[in-house]
Amino acid sequence: MDRRGTSSEKWEKYAGRDILPLWVADMDLPMPPFVLHAMRRRLKHPILGYTSTPQAATEAMVDWLGRRYGWRVSAQWLVWVGGVVPGFTLAAQAVAEAGSQLVLPVPAYPPFFRVAERAGLRGVFSPLVRVGDRWEMDFDDLRAKITRQTAAVLFCNPHNPTGRVYDKTELTALVDLVVSTDTVLISDEIHCPLVLDGDHEHIPVASLDSSVATRSITLFAPTKAYNFPGVGGAVAVIPNAGIRERFEDAVAGMASNISPLAYAAMTAAFRDQSQWLARRNAFLAGNAAMLEDAVGTLRGVETTHVEGTFMAWLDVSKLGLANPAAYFETRGLGLADGVEFGAPGFLRWNLGCGRPLLETGVERLTDAINELATKRR
Ligand SMILES: Cc1ncc(COP(=O)(O)O)c(C=O)c1O
Repeated sequence: MDRRGTSSEKWEKYAGRDILPLWVADMDLPMPPFVLHAMRRRLKHPILGYTSTPQAATEAMVDWLGRRYGWRVSAQWLVWVGGVVPGFTLAAQAVAEAGSQLVLPVPAYPPFFRVAERAGLRGVFSPLVRVGDRWEMDFDDLRAKITRQTAAVLFCNPHNPTGRVYDKTELTALVDLVVSTDTVLISDEIHCPLVLDGDHEHIPVASLDSSVATRSITLFAPTKAYNFPGVGGAVAVIPNAGIRERFEDAVAGMASNISPLAYAAMTAAFRDQSQWLARRNAFLAGNAAMLEDAVGTLRGVETTHVEGTFMAWLDVSKLGLANPAAYFETRGLGLADGVEFGAPGFLRWNLGCGRPLLETGVERLTDAINELATKRR
């Protein structure tokens, strides 16, 4: 869709320049009519005042977790919050203890890096490792790093930026570590409706066992999958009453105001039982396949299979460029710089766009790589 005139952050960055915006994680694809309809219905009342959580929102969320993931949660466990980023940042503050550590797998979504600092924790990074066509957690490394000094592990699944949807074996191994070290698990699962490959399924990590549920804070939001990220809004699931109280305290006055339009949109999305999401995911999977196929034919650039999210994670380190993001900008591609994810030599490609734009992007990528190869001959 043409987004001119909407102050789109994604498009404004390159306004007036012939650079395709393939960076920040929002999509150029419309949100579903039933979500828009719910927002319009709310607008029939001319006052958008401070809003307490509508019972319909709570019921829709509880039902959604049960229906999609078989996770039976109590309505009392939910804490609504202004967004997932404030949610995980305040979650870390809520569980922080002086001198303790926050462990996070890297590469990571850039705001993850600021969390430790804001909570007064020491950040400890555990690199993911590439195994064949996917990125995996390194459990030996994690075992060495998750200790009794760890206040929390900050986890993301499906994983931005690598596109992994972790399987049950991996999640169980993580749970074992978290439980045995008496640590809290903060899990950002914003991308969970976006599983693009039928061979994978999302499992909310806290649903695996009550031993992890009672030490977890899981953040969900339909804003990514249904593409209304600018509206904001998220919900934390916190089974442990003590942790929940501390989180509510941290959120109060910081990120506790949720717009009535956000509640209307989130409720409509959580209620969705149509085929809309399956169709959207099939479209995104087609985009992922097109990019993966193209990259497979190019020398010096590699990617792994996008199992979930709408991001492809490109390894361009073999091209030997000092600043790959800047180089590709000069070739008309505005990609997210791996440096911000803790991974120099990598670029993240946002697949949430129309097919013609993607095709142009793939052509530009091919030309840019061929040009480098020619220069070096
Ligand atoms: C992993 C992850 N968490 C959180 C967010 C943003 O969440 P919010 O807009 O609700 O703060 C994003 C957006 O790209 C994301 O990829």
